[in-house]
Parts: sequence; structure tokens; C-alpha cells
Amino acid sequence: MNDMLDPSAFASLITAHDDGNYADAVVPPIFQTSLFTFSEYDEMIASYRGEKVRPIYTRGLNPTVRMFEDMLAKLEGAEDALGFASGMSAISASVLSFVEPGDRIVAVNHVYPDAFRLFGTLLKRMKVEVTYVDGRDEEAVAKALPGAKVLYLESPTSWVMEAHDVGALAALAKKHGAISMIDNSWASPVFQRPITLGVDLVIHSASKYLGGHSDVVAGVVAGSKEMIARLKAEAYPYLGGKLSPFDAWLLIRGMRTLPLRMKAHQESALTIARRLQGLDVVETVCHPGLANRLPAGLTGTSGLFSFIFKEGVDIRAFADHLKLFKLGVSWGGHESLVVPGEVVLQQKAQPNSAHTFGIHARSVRLHVGLEGTEVLWSDLQEAIAVAS
Ligand SMILES: Cc1ncc(COP(=O)(O)O)c(C=O)c1O
Repeated sequence: MNDMLDPSAFASLITAHDDGNYADAVVPPIFQTSLFTFSEYDEMIASYRGEKVRPIYTRGLNPTVRMFEDMLAKLEGAEDALGFASGMSAISASVLSFVEPGDRIVAVNHVYPDAFRLFGTLLKRMKVEVTYVDGRDEEAVAKALPGAKVLYLESPTSWVMEAHDVGALAALAKKHGAISMIDNSWASPVFQRPITLGVDLVIHSASKYLGGHSDVVAGVVAGSKEMIARLKAEAYPYLGGKLSPFDAWLLIRGMRTLPLRMKAHQESALTIARRLQGLDVVETVCHPGLANRLPAGLTGTSGLFSFIFKEGVDIRAFADHLKLFKLGVSWGGHESLVVPGEVVLQQKAQPNSAHTFGIHARSVRLHVGLEGTEVLWSDLQEAIAVAS
């Protein structure tokens, strides 16, 4: 692996919050409460005036959620972070906080399908226009940016795994006065820290690698104190997509092993991608680690990639003969998953839209989990043998 998290950020994942406030518990408590009461009028009024910051109601502030937010901000090298009830809630709150009717967003091709749908429905009704560009083509991005309010990035993307030079794109956004945002779910802060590359807001579906155990749906946004304060002031309380204390606690637990899990995902997925590339029945493997070099700022690769079978392979038989890889659409957990492209293509991008997110009908997306490279490879080989 290239350089992982710096050692002090890694250590902070393990030791976070053992600060003596909670009877020196190794694992922090869950503040599973909606409400925090006051014993004195003066304290309550000071809190309402903002003179004293303390929890009042969990939709605003909850100590367990705050612990998770602090941990993630540290990992991303950000000043602050805000937890959400889902990745989509983090995406919608981030975008809605910074646009108004008449504004334009520039987004890279192949963003996560529900982000694409958000842009094409709610934002369209709000008269916010979205221009899609190839994120690999910096000239095209520069051409699209004048007058845009937001540059929305996702790198690497989550089906064709297109990887962009995030620092270069963030610099272009800055030059044109646009706010840059990135969906960093694929790389996790272990392999990409966009704030350090000049991006303004970093968004995660925490349901993926941050949680890591397929038991949480959550999201988070990291950025400067000023930008997070803007989110906190409006979209966060009014849209109300608050991360729950129990889910924050599960994320804190999951994140302690994030660097170790990412290392294992990287090693197994890259080995399997290289072996698939050598098979006669495989046309192309879409995995950023197979290129000569990774884009600047991306220091490693995760467990999610796709490949395209040559014509004549029975993809249904392949999927049905897999034993360890389960048919499932999410990713980022401990388990290995497979999704055939032709299944995903059954759901239209939007009514009357022929957009396909770059998904090839003979493609298959794999999430390589933590079961072990050789058992997973045997599983794939047996299923490919039956299907070819
Ligand atoms: C790349 C990417 N971004 C965002 C999301 C949305 O996250 P959530 O499902 O937590 O709302 C997903 C979910 O699959 C995703 O794959």
C-alpha cells in the first residue's frame, strides 16, 4: 500500500474519547436520548441565547453523534463535520445549502444514481440547472465552470470507477468562484483526503466503508467551520435528516478498524482484478489500480470495481453459481457482493431517460470483502467456468 493515514490520525481512531469523561470506559457511551433538560432557568436561557453550547434536543446536538463527527473531521483533515441519517441526506443538505433558483451546478458524469435523480427532479423544479462534464477532461470542466455555483465531484465513481485529479478540479472551481464538493465514499479518508487537496466539502455515504459492517445507513459532511455552520443553520435542522445516536456509536466502532479493513479490501480486490484481466472471457476490468498510476491525491484503492464479460458468457449462471459473493447492491461492508449491470439497467435513470450511468449491459460490479483472496478467487473461477 502507498502511504496510508498518517500514524497520529490512525492512532486517534483507536484512542479517541478515552479522555476520562466517561469513567475511563474504553468504548464511549451511547446518549440514546431525544432530550436534555435544564435544572435552572438561567442555564436554559443562556443556552437559547447561544452563550452556552450544550445539547438541548438530539436533532440539534447529541454527544455520541458529536464524537463521530469529531473523529471523521480529524480523519479528513477538516475543521468540522456533520452527521446525517443517510448518504443521500448528506448530499441533498450539502447541495441545497448552497444553491438558489437560477444557479447552475457542474457535475462529473456517472455520479451516484440517486444524486443524479436529485439533480434531475427536486433541483430542476427549484430551477437549478446541472451541466455534466467528463471529470478526466480538465479543459471541459474549465469551460463549463464560468458562472457555476457548485462543482460536484465523485471520484472514483462507483460503477465505472473513473478516477479524477481531484486537486486540479478543486483548483479550477476555486479559480471560477465555485464551491467544490466531492462524494468520497469509494476511497474513504484512508486513501483520499480531499480537504487537503483543496476541496471545500467532503461527503460520505457512511453506510459504506466508514461503518464497514453493513449494519448502518448514515452520511456525513466535512469542511471548514464556516461552511459546516452554514449547513447547521438551515438544511440540517429544517430537512431534519439527523444521524441517530445508536448509528453514530456503530460508526465509531466501525471506524476503529477502517485503515486495516481498507488495506485488506485493497489487496484482495487488486489481486482479483489483475487475475480477471488475464481471463479470455473478460473484455475489460474497470479498476483504477490497473492504470499505470493513480491520479494525484488518491493513495490507494478500495474493494469496489467492475468488469465486462465478453459476449457469450451467461451472466445469470455466473451470478447463480457464486457462493461467497452474494447478489447485493450496496458495498463497503465485510462481505463480498456482486451486481450484474443488466439488473441495475432495469431501473431507469429517470422516467423517459436513456441515461445509463456508463453501465455496460455485460458488466458486473464486485465488492471484494474480507473473506480472503484465495477463497473468493476460487468462488469466481468456479462460477465463471459454469457460465462460459
Ligand atoms: C457512491 C455513493 N454515494 C452515495 C450513496 C448514498 O448513500 P446512502 O445509501 O447512505 O444514502 C451511495 C449508496 O449506495 C453510493 O454508492
